[in-house]
Parts: sequence; C-alpha cells; structure tokens
Amino acid sequence: MKLQHVIYSQQFSVPDLMELFTRTRLMQKTVQRGGSRDYDDKIMATLFYKPSTRTRFSFEAAMYRLGGKVLSTESATSFSSVVEGEQLEDTIRIIGDYCDVIVLRHNEEGGAQRAADVSPVPIINAGDGSGGQHPTQALLDLYTIYNECGTLDGISVALLGALDTGRTVRSLAYLLSKFERVKLYFLAPSELQIKQDIIDHLREHNVWFHLNSDPEEVLPHVDVVYQTRIDRERLASKDLSASQYNINPAMLKRMKPNALVLHPLPRSVEIDPAVDLDPRAAYFRQSRNGLYVRMALLTMLFDSE
Ligand code: CP
Repeated sequence: MKLQHVIYSQQFSVPDLMELFTRTRLMQKTVQRGGSRDYDDKIMATLFYKPSTRTRFSFEAAMYRLGGKVLSTESATSFSSVVEGEQLEDTIRIIGDYCDVIVLRHNEEGGAQRAADVSPVPIINAGDGSGGQHPTQALLDLYTIYNECGTLDGISVALLGALDTGRTVRSLAYLLSKFERVKLYFLAPSELQIKQDIIDHLREHNVWFHLNSDPEEVLPHVDVVYQTRIDRERLASKDLSASQYNINPAMLKRMKPNALVLHPLPRSVEIDPAVDLDPRAAYFRQSRNGLYVRMALLTMLFDSE
C-alpha cells in the first residue's frame, strides 16, 4: 500500500487495513524481542497543541522501538513559536525540514489537512479539533475488535457518550462501515447524538444503524460496547453522569459473556473502576495495542517512500 498522509480513517480500504493488522502482529513480536533497528535513520516529530497521554507516548515509544529518533515539544501552544503568532502552515514547513514524519494534534478541526497541504513529509492526524477525527485511535480500536472477536463482518457495536464531538467514534464509524452486515447503535441524549455527516455516510453505504436507543435494551445484545470519554467542560451543562449511560457491574452482568467493553480513554465517570477486573473490560489491552498499531503505521509510511 502507498501511504502518504494519515488524515481521515475512511482513506483506508479493507485490504489496507488487513495489511496494517498483519504488520501489527509482527510489531507485537518485535517488541517482545526488544525492538528493532530497522528504521534507525528516521526521525519523527510530535507536535501536540492539545494534551495527550496515550497518543503521544505510544507514538514516541513506537518510533524508539523501531530504532528511530523523536523530536518533540512539551505543549506546542506554550513552547513553540505559536506563542509568537506563527501560523500552523509555517510551523509545519519548518519542522518538516528536520524530520521524516510529523504526528500532529491540532486544536482546530481541519488542522491536520491544512498541515498535509504544505508539509514536505507525511502528516499523521493525532486528533483535530472537537468533532474532527482521530484516525489512529480508530485503527487501534478496529484492530482490538478484530483481534478479540476474530472478525469484523457481522459484528454489532453500541457507541455511547458525547457522540457529537467524539472524534474517535466518528473515525471508528467510518471504518466499521467498510465491513459486511455491521450493526451500529448510537446511544446518547439527542443533543449529543452523532452528527449528520456520519448518518449520511452510513445511509449512502447501506449500513444498518439505530439512534437514541435505550442502553438497557441494547447493551445485552451487542458484541462490542464502545464507551467514550466525556469532556469535563460539558459535564456541567449536559449531564452524562446519569447511570443510564455508564458501565457498572450491574450493567456488565446483563451483557453477553464474550462482549468487549472498549474506551479510548481517558475516562471519568463513564466506566466504574469495578468493571476493570472483568475480562470483558478490554480498554487497557486496547491502549496497549496502540503501540503496535502505531509502529505498524509508521513502517507503512516509511516503506511507501
Ligand atoms: N485516546 C486518546 O487519544 O488519548 P490521549 O488523549 O491521552 O492521547
């Protein structure tokens, strides 16, 4: 596969995804062997305008495990020339001359595409704005489902939380829509429901979906429960702490014995820590897969050069 930038999840075809997953399994073995030196001539820059734990650390670990090097700044909005009013395009042109790939989390929707339009090196979208996309999170989410369920065709997935601004849900919905007989349930209060562009996409691709369903009714019947984080700023005005949308041991009891509970993390109130010990709680395995998937993605980009 020839990969230039990673901006939107829908840019990946099913054969691309299968190639990524094959490479991901190899990367897991590579890490178990202590890493490789295969990409020791490569430099990756991480440029984050918004905070991150998993995405930034796993990308940086991925580059080190591949033998490469990392350039970074603590917080691009405070410790780069953004403070002086430098435009994203100029920052990207400059950093692109110093490295082989840029991993960018930008605070504006469309930031990653703007960067890709001027960048001399590949841009990886590590999340853009509120309501943009987070394609590498969706790739690791999809890999986790594939790895644990053994298939993506025919699976039923309930997606819960603040779906309107949920970058991960948006990117994952695009990816799941590529597989056969998938069923998607979007469970959220109406003011936080998934946006029209995703609904239009699902209709256009004849994907079965349902909005505004009752979690009590849906969760016992699905293969995957994908819970999403609630941004604290919105909790005050739009209360999602109501137990109807939270996963707790009582809700877990009603789920299928082999269901998966996923969450991109970080979580707040939406998954009770008491759920963590249940083998169906797959969110820490999911975040671990982020390292392997991101290693695989970097190799695909470097091997496309
Ligand atoms: N899932 C995710 O994007 O986490 P971070 O914000 O910690 O990178």
